[in-house]
Amino acid sequence: MSKKFFFYLKEYLSFNNIKASLTIFFYSLLKQNTKYPKYLVSFETKIAKYFGSKYALTFSNGTTACASLLYAVGLKKNSKIIISKLTFPSVISSILRIGAIPIYLDFDKDLQIKKNFNQNIILEAEFILITHAYGLPQDYNIIKSIKNINQNLIMIEDISHAQGAISNNKYVGNEGLGSFMSMQGDKAISAGEGGMVFTNSQKIYDKLIYLSHLNRKIQNTKNYSNLLSTIGFLGKGRMNPLGAITALNDLKNLKNRNKLFAEKIKFIHHKLSDLESLYFPKISNYQNIGGFHYGIPFFCDSEIILKKLQNEFKIVKYNWPILDMSESFCDPDKFIELVYKDQIESIDVFGKSNDLRDQLYFFDLKQIKNLNVNHINDKIISIKKNEN
Ligand SMILES: Cc1ncc(COP(=O)(O)O)c(C=O)c1O
Repeated sequence: MSKKFFFYLKEYLSFNNIKASLTIFFYSLLKQNTKYPKYLVSFETKIAKYFGSKYALTFSNGTTACASLLYAVGLKKNSKIIISKLTFPSVISSILRIGAIPIYLDFDKDLQIKKNFNQNIILEAEFILITHAYGLPQDYNIIKSIKNINQNLIMIEDISHAQGAISNNKYVGNEGLGSFMSMQGDKAISAGEGGMVFTNSQKIYDKLIYLSHLNRKIQNTKNYSNLLSTIGFLGKGRMNPLGAITALNDLKNLKNRNKLFAEKIKFIHHKLSDLESLYFPKISNYQNIGGFHYGIPFFCDSEIILKKLQNEFKIVKYNWPILDMSESFCDPDKFIELVYKDQIESIDVFGKSNDLRDQLYFFDLKQIKNLNVNHINDKIISIKKNEN
């Protein structure tokens, strides 16, 4: 009881949390809780600067941010877009709703896009969406080799799991025409529910506003866009501005949080490196990982070792449906058919994949967050003792 109590005290009653909660109270009281109050615009400016991007635009969630960015960069019916099989389901459905065709690439045990891709597939595509999954940035050299095959590829990035991770000496999300992220409550930067798009292109930024931000004024422009924003082409995608207050709090704490997680991950990797049936995705520099979501990934092909880990740690299994197995998630026409079906009896996406995803497990991130290195060490010692 006392351990838990002190944890809650530290976690929820910290000075910064209380300050953020009082700020939310204050702005709610003043009814500054809708549209684009100054504190929301200021948050966008601050986060853009932090991540080294010219523009940042808030959204109601990561899925809306993703969909709006896909339209803004020009994805359309029959466009082919390369994605890793390790991609969040609502990102895939956003692609299919546009009528575009996802081209799924395999990934390896380092959670990197597999290098043995078919060059013709890369040449036929117009777009590529890079997902930096579970805190690990995609290897810049792989991205470069794909771009070398097709220099016309328009690239966007999903940085929902990798807020503050570094690739090619900059924060991830700066490699293509734009990037998006979820700020759902479990993410490193949380607005409760929220999303964000980053871009260096004013054209994309203006377009995102008039596509998704009903009646938002576009600064520094005298063009037609301000009128266009009264239409709401893609509906309405704005965030509850109060979310910006907790998100700003998280942004201030991001470096520290990432550092603490990186230290624990390094410790776990090091301490368990001698267990042959375990494989941890390779990390060449622990200072470059960040954000994290869901858990710390590992592969395990031994039921016995898995049980031992489960005795000490909360282990969770890969939990995204395997959409690429079903034709309905490869062909946009079949997807639309499925959407309009009165009743869906079965789709083949909840079973086994017969690929790496069946062996992909995670140390639950919330548990790891609450354990200090000594606790983790005790648990690992206990696993090792039982091994003999
Ligand atoms: C990698 C990734 N992309 C996109 C999303 C979608 O974001 P949201 O849930 O905020 O719509 C998520 C959500 O968890 C995600 O994990």
